[in-house]
Amino acid sequence: MASRLGYESAAGIEMKARSCLAIVLAAGEGTRMRSARPKVLHTIAGRSLLARVLSVVVEAGVTATAIVIGPGQDNVAAEARRALPGAASFVQRDRRGTAHAVLAAKPAIEKGVDDILVVYADTPFIRPKTLARLRAPLATGAAVAVLGFRPADPAGYGRLIMAGDEVVAIREEADASASERSIDLCNGGIMALAGRTALAILEQIGDRNRKREFYLTDAVEIARGMKLTAVAVEVEEDEVRGINTKYQLAEAEAVEQQRLRKRALDAGVTLIAPETVFLCTDTKFGKDVGVEPYVIFGEKVEVEDGAVIHSFCHLAGARVGKGVSVGPFARLRPGTRLGEGSRIGNFVEVKESVVEAGAKANHLTYIGDARVGADANIGAGTITCNYDGIAKHRTEIGKDAFIGSNSALVAPVKIGARAYVGSGSVITGNVPEGALALARSRQVVKEGWVTRLRALKSLGKKKAHVQD
Ligand code: UD1
Ligand code: CA
Repeated sequence: MASRLGYESAAGIEMKARSCLAIVLAAGEGTRMRSARPKVLHTIAGRSLLARVLSVVVEAGVTATAIVIGPGQDNVAAEARRALPGAASFVQRDRRGTAHAVLAAKPAIEKGVDDILVVYADTPFIRPKTLARLRAPLATGAAVAVLGFRPADPAGYGRLIMAGDEVVAIREEADASASERSIDLCNGGIMALAGRTALAILEQIGDRNRKREFYLTDAVEIARGMKLTAVAVEVEEDEVRGINTKYQLAEAEAVEQQRLRKRALDAGVTLIAPETVFLCTDTKFGKDVGVEPYVIFGEKVEVEDGAVIHSFCHLAGARVGKGVSVGPFARLRPGTRLGEGSRIGNFVEVKESVVEAGAKANHLTYIGDARVGADANIGAGTITCNYDGIAKHRTEIGKDAFIGSNSALVAPVKIGARAYVGSGSVITGNVPEGALALARSRQVVKEGWVTRLRALKSLGKKKAHVQD
């Protein structure tokens, strides 16, 4: 039962309305990723590690969020602003350990909150519910709560030294004795601290250890020294899987793809070979959508009811309307809007264009910066020439227009409603409504020409030249 002051958190767990500050640590260099890109900007299913963790803390119902980033990591700060505009960013000038990183957010801690959650930005699979479970012991008097798990391979993790339900210490692997290393309960990295004692604990943490770093994990022993309580909450390994290497990033991607495929199947999408379809966390499907094998969905794709995506398509930033057919072998780039019942066939690329209801581009076409009117027919090989080497220009194709095969539409250009463009035309000027435009050289026919050529050849003339 919720108390009178209680509320149900977004994670579905009832708790008192305690304020909570999440401190998200993202200042690491991520050396083991061997990448110029900061670790937390690497993506899983199209969403950065940082954005994932931020969305989890928001869902967990925290009241404020502070993000600790490294010096010069403007791209990390920008991603934080994009993902969670209300969060405060703090720069950790030198990377001197996890406790040192938490203290970079000291101004946020000093504002005073009931609970503090320290979350690592490289641990993206943590669930909002688990964060709520971790906070729960703080409400009943604990000063520190740590997340424990039993990994298949404990190498590299800190070990939890327990006495009954209480944690006595966390020993980093580099500092652990042989017997401590044999402990299978490890530190998942995420920690909850009671707001009233957090600063007093954090400021006592020193760097007397193998790495000469200020370890957040020392908070446990210090709390105990202050006669405070530290407890552990256990969780499955899947949730606290840290991403430190490209291999772990790929493993995490595989786990997330499995989840997204299942989510799509559960929502009624038909996937003949789900393991060959790659999705983004934000991919949206309507009812009765079919996706054939080998299709890749980039970010921001929405597929409406009854649409079919045939094999070997690549989609990003596209909205596919009801009953649309795409592919096989089609590419939809950002800014694509396909109206109801339209058809985009094989080897067709669409970018920043609206294709209205019932329009068709069935083969070998590039539609860029264009509007294709309803029921228009775009012949095979049609190209919108949208770029003049300096700027992009638009092509407007009217309703019911017919563009003959292998035409080049040199933008800016407008083709009126119901107009025809003769095959092989290079259209450089507007075509009025209902008109026919032909922009190609006339055909020349030379009757009997081949017969005359053969006759000359048979006379043994090597360089035969037939008179017209
Ligand atoms: C940490 C824990 C370890 C735990 C493991 C779980 C410590 C001392 N060790 O080890 O007990 O088992 O996580 O994954 O906490 N960071 C900063 N600034 C720093 C150092 C780190 O912002 O100066 C950030 C990193 O970006 C990262 C997080 O803190 O997001 C954790 O740091 P990392 O170096 O990955 O810690 P681990 O060695 O994995
Ligand atoms: Ca880590």
